[in-house]
Amino acid sequence: MNDIYEPKYVETLFDKMSTSYSKMNYITSFGFSERWRKQCVKEVSIAKGKTTVDLMTGMGECWAPILKNSNKYSKLIALDFSSEMILEAEKKKLKYKDYNIEVLKENIFNNSIPDHAADYVISGFGLKTFNNEQLEQLAFEINRILKPGGQFSLIDVSVPNSKIITPFYMFYLQRIVPLIGKLFLGNPETYKMLGIYTEAFKNADTLYNIFNVLYFQVDKVNYFYGCATGIKGRKTL
Ligand SMILES: C[S@@+](CC[C@H](N)C(=O)[O-])C[C@H]1O[C@@H](n2cnc3c(N)ncnc32)[C@H](O)[C@@H]1O
Repeated sequence: MNDIYEPKYVETLFDKMSTSYSKMNYITSFGFSERWRKQCVKEVSIAKGKTTVDLMTGMGECWAPILKNSNKYSKLIALDFSSEMILEAEKKKLKYKDYNIEVLKENIFNNSIPDHAADYVISGFGLKTFNNEQLEQLAFEINRILKPGGQFSLIDVSVPNSKIITPFYMFYLQRIVPLIGKLFLGNPETYKMLGIYTEAFKNADTLYNIFNVLYFQVDKVNYFYGCATGIKGRKTL
């Protein structure tokens, strides 16, 4: 098997998923993904006129809750490296004509966002395709991009820490989601990867430890019994 954390592999995976991602995401999470995105964004109190960076933006799934607290003086910088996801994000941008949105087709580990550009950094479901070394690089980038005092909130699907929920949830992610994926994409393999990444990611504990040793004040966040987890916090220096 290819190295599943290799950027080219991940990029191709999301290119393939792009036609079905929104529907799949909504259906297979029973609408929870939408709710979790809103909750994740709410963890930082976005004020009007500020700059928010949405990392691993996909097709802009986190934009609605971000823009709800924005005005024409606010700025949203949305970054993703999948050509197909970015194409959809560009289309979505046209629907938000009154807002200042910059879409960047870039790898987070080689991006053009200036130092201290952001008041807030958000990321929805873009963590599990990184290994620990890449998560450390992500922390470095978020530290670089955020202004001192800037806030961040990051979330991903996780393995819950419950004897009752976990077996059902993992069976669902590993067996049922790929089957639903087969209905939309014609093959179960692409969506099977989400279960594989989630199992390896486990939860945001490692991420918390990584952020806890840098210049951040950080807290863990559990969403619906740990079916998703994340971190939120602030750059202190
Ligand atoms: C699961 S999707 C999440 C999309 C969206 N944020 C959401 O809330 O649904 C993960 C996204 O991360 C992007 N991604 C993964 N690794 C990346 C990297 N190194 N640089 C930029 N984008 C990356 C993928 O292309 C994909 O669109």
